[in-house]
Amino acid sequence: MNDDAKPFYKHHVFFCMNEREGKDARQSCGKCGAEKAQKHAKKRIKELGLNGEGKVRINQSGCLDRCEEGPVLVVYPEGTWYTYVDTADIDDIIDTHLVGGQVVERLKI
Ligand code: FES
Repeated sequence: MNDDAKPFYKHHVFFCMNEREGKDARQSCGKCGAEKAQKHAKKRIKELGLNGEGKVRINQSGCLDRCEEGPVLVVYPEGTWYTYVDTADIDDIIDTHLVGGQVVERLKI
């Protein structure tokens, strides 16, 4: 493997989509708006023309094991973890981090 190889995506974003059922179930991102947030991010990245090789990829993931801090997403290759409340927070992560290259400190976990 060539260590100098560029990552295929500049930013690869994983939204935890795990959803636990049952009234005694642990908190899960899927019960805290993950689907709406992930869909919003995917749509907005496409609208901005930021999707594709060398740019941004928005993916779904299973449980990332930070459930109590959720809903969570993680941005690679930086390994920056965020939580969010609504789509305005997702827009902030897109505009500030994915476009601007700065960490959104208020949402970082
Ligand atoms: S359910 Fe999302 S991190 Fe576990």
